Amino acid sequence: MGGIHPREAARHHAKVAGDTISRAFQEAGIKPKDATIIAFSQGPGLGPCLRAGATAARTLSTYLNIPLVGVNHCVAHIEIGKLVTDAKDPITLYVSGGNSIVSAFDAGRYRIFGETLDIAIGNSIDVFAREAGLHQQKGLPFGAIVERLAKEGKELVHLPYSVKGMDLSFSGLLTAVVRLLKNGKHSLEDLCYSLQETAFSMLTEVTERALAHTEKKEVLLTGGVGANKRLQAMLATIADEHESRFCVVPKQYALDNGAMIAWAGILAYKQGITTPVEESFVRLKWRLEDVKALWVEP
Ligand code: FE2
Repeated sequence: MGGIHPREAARHHAKVAGDTISRAFQEAGIKPKDATIIAFSQGPGLGPCLRAGATAARTLSTYLNIPLVGVNHCVAHIEIGKLVTDAKDPITLYVSGGNSIVSAFDAGRYRIFGETLDIAIGNSIDVFAREAGLHQQKGLPFGAIVERLAKEGKELVHLPYSVKGMDLSFSGLLTAVVRLLKNGKHSLEDLCYSLQETAFSMLTEVTERALAHTEKKEVLLTGGVGANKRLQAMLATIADEHESRFCVVPKQYALDNGAMIAWAGILAYKQGITTPVEESFVRLKWRLEDVKALWVEP
């Protein structure tokens, strides 16, 4: 099926860590001795990759003798999204290769209102694109290629629509669309179009129900799949119907990035939260709602 090989990715992380860190210091115009904390992504994610980051973070924190702050990756997406869009208290839809989560702040934590029960939406699109023999072109991820093909689609092919309570399932949809691809009765454009329409409607339905339930006044879209214009349009419609502001996190801060980890680390540190080295083990399945978000105003 292709995709990321965790150990190879981790080797790559370790190889580029030194250069990346010195470039970050250069661009920020500060020296390592000026740093106050070292924030790092403690989870959730792929073990080998998280460990490569955590090792670099522990080394730096020990060398500079400054505290470590272990950050939850999903919290970081939400916090940087709020910062750059000026959203105060949104319903967040975080959609990427590894996550599909609808969340909102309630009683001290970012609660998960709905999530995928199997694979993430971004992963579904990637697997479909690979099965279709599409090739990642320069700078264009599979999602963007599928989006472009979908625009040429005319016929909506029936695919499994799977919303269970507030949760989502994409695996049946993926199996069905790959099967249709192999039997060759539909054009690739129609299948891209139908895949997007079905999957994005599911995401939009769950987001809208969370919005109606919580009566929040903002909808925040983040993660790599958030760059998709069709998904943006669907969410803009429901935000509008509920008189909520629709905020799309710019790509630079919507894809995984170091700034989001740093920012979430700063917010936690200001509340006195640090992570002793002996507690800095990575947490592969660290859930968003397990984090006490002390820095968020109720
Ligand atoms: Fe992410």
